[in-house]
Amino acid sequence: MEQQYLIDGRGFRVAMGEASSLHRGAPEILSDRFGDLAAPMAWSEQGYMVLAADGFYDIEKVYASTTEAVRRILQEVTGRVDLSRFRLERYHDFVTEPEHAQVIARTRRLFPADLGFDVGAVVEAFGSYLGARLGFLNPVTGGEQWMIARINRPGSHDYNPVHKDIYESFDRLGRIARMINVWIPVCGVHGASGLPVSPGSHRISEDRVLRTRSGGVMNGLQYSVNCIAEWDGRRDLETINPGRTEFLIFSSHLIHGLAKNYNPDETRVSFEFRLYEQV
Ligand SMILES: [Fe+2]
Repeated sequence: MEQQYLIDGRGFRVAMGEASSLHRGAPEILSDRFGDLAAPMAWSEQGYMVLAADGFYDIEKVYASTTEAVRRILQEVTGRVDLSRFRLERYHDFVTEPEHAQVIARTRRLFPADLGFDVGAVVEAFGSYLGARLGFLNPVTGGEQWMIARINRPGSHDYNPVHKDIYESFDRLGRIARMINVWIPVCGVHGASGLPVSPGSHRISEDRVLRTRSGGVMNGLQYSVNCIAEWDGRRDLETINPGRTEFLIFSSHLIHGLAKNYNPDETRVSFEFRLYEQV
């Protein structure tokens, strides 16, 4: 089934799995029922905000330690001895397709110990900003969430479908932890290469959202996240492009995805994580 979205007014087509798996939810707003950590914030209506990194983390440290983590994984995957000239922006020159699949299987599961910056201090800074005690432990599933270095090669299909993070837990357990999403640009984020979101979509009643359950198929690939086909009769997203010294924070109930890397010859790397209210 072909699905057409609009990103910044431009058509974006994807091939989705079976139309028969689409459904609508109950007439309720999940961010009200389960409580949204973004609700008390000044930006709660749009559901996202671009903030200056200053006071949260040091981008140079994040860049250096992400480069180091990816270089180490690349080294282990490819067995190549000399990666001294490796740069994150040129990642696509250093991997074959099968090697890339192995690399991202690992960069999507980074623990704080894998990174060379003080992740604890970063988490604390987010906690004091949101007025909540935050951590990587999901109190609903009991599982620990990883930090994800999302690596998108230029022009590739390495992007997620249109989705909401909260459906993963809701579809499986009928419950949702209070959490927040953070998206940090590390390199290659400019022009049209930011993260597309649908402002205000976290406040739409579930009977107005047409979607698959977790594990949707898009462009022939199986994703762990759901695929949303339509919300409130809309299919449009707006790209948010944080600058190099900025980041994006957004409600876990917000609809987002299809973050294609449009750069002609530069890999995009972003750091992605969810922080949960610790109860
Ligand atoms: Fe997401």
